Amino acid sequence: MMQIYLDHSATTPTRSEAITAMQQVLTQQWGNPSSLHTWGQRSATLVERARIKVGNLINTVPESIIFTSGGTEADNMAIMGVVRCYREPQHIIISSVEHSAISEPVRMLENWGWRVTRLPVNQQGRVAPQELQAALQANTVLVSIIYGQSEVGTLQPIAELGDICRYRRVLFHTDAVQVVGRLPVDVEKLPVDLLSLSSHKIYGPQGVGALYVRQGVELVPLLGGGGQEMKLRSGTQAVAAIAGFGVAAELANEEIVTEASRLSRLRDRLFEQMVDNPYVICTGDKLYRLPHHLSFCIVPPEGETAKLDNKITGKTLVRQLNLAGIGISTGSACHSGKIAPSPILLAMGYTEDTATRGIRLTLGRETTVADIDWTAMVLKQILARLMPNSY
Ligand SMILES: Cc1ncc(COP(=O)(O)O)c(C=O)c1O
Repeated sequence: MMQIYLDHSATTPTRSEAITAMQQVLTQQWGNPSSLHTWGQRSATLVERARIKVGNLINTVPESIIFTSGGTEADNMAIMGVVRCYREPQHIIISSVEHSAISEPVRMLENWGWRVTRLPVNQQGRVAPQELQAALQANTVLVSIIYGQSEVGTLQPIAELGDICRYRRVLFHTDAVQVVGRLPVDVEKLPVDLLSLSSHKIYGPQGVGALYVRQGVELVPLLGGGGQEMKLRSGTQAVAAIAGFGVAAELANEEIVTEASRLSRLRDRLFEQMVDNPYVICTGDKLYRLPHHLSFCIVPPEGETAKLDNKITGKTLVRQLNLAGIGISTGSACHSGKIAPSPILLAMGYTEDTATRGIRLTLGRETTVADIDWTAMVLKQILARLMPNSY
């Protein structure tokens, strides 16, 4: 059976060049980069080379790259690192479509007495810059807005939002985990102070990521320890994973322009085959969109809701496509067996029912035209079989 992986927003297959680099570290250059002897210094050199490569991917100096255990830690470091600079609770602004790596730590802050504003989004999942302008207060210390939304693919107007923060002298963080390596990001031009990235979304290994910290921005570290990573992230670095991340970043940088346009053409080809289907509505913004990302809600045609088997959710589609050898994912989280509506789709104004029916298909380096056409055909067949009109 054909096997087609279309879940590259969840993770990407580790590329062979990164594996080769990691293998070399694990077998030959396993020294502790903090050690002063030859073994240690060889490892330290590898970490610094990787730092340069990851920095190049977003056009910054290596000193601004802090290696972490992934995007989640980078997000937490940005939020908590700023928050812990203050003795008293202040005000923080995020969007209503953040990844849980931002929304969960921020929920914790609320319990500690911090005030939080969650900016609304339009039906396409976009924040309006004037909403940010209106939400800023005298004690706002941080704004964090996701760059590319993982579930619905929408890109935010980060440059405009960052300009507003800069004008008001408020720190601005963006979770760019889904964007870096897929679209060019240049922090020399983009008005951001902090930016999160993750290796396993760009064909590097899992368990490593980085936080970009603009020179001069003060953070309080999350971990106390040996003071590695410019004193911001104690703990012996994961040298092999960092080396793999570096290689993946370098290659992503070389391929980014051609790959982004190839992927967006493939994505549009899939979109064209699905857009007129009576059982789907496309979610997210059509124009301001991650190049590899397509998302739908599976809905019955007008007037057919009553007849629809309520058990048909995004998860049903994920299972059915999996049986056909196609790996995709659902938008909505599953808690203790019950299908919860996706908070992202709810924030975009969809009903609770529709918000349980989200799926996303995310393409990658190995996706071909044949994969797309096959997937569209299989998906249409499954929908026709599941939906009430065809009973
Ligand atoms: C937007 C976004 N932020 C953060 C993360 C977390 O990254 P990691 O898996 O490296 O911790 C993800 C991963 O799915 C993501 O899509």
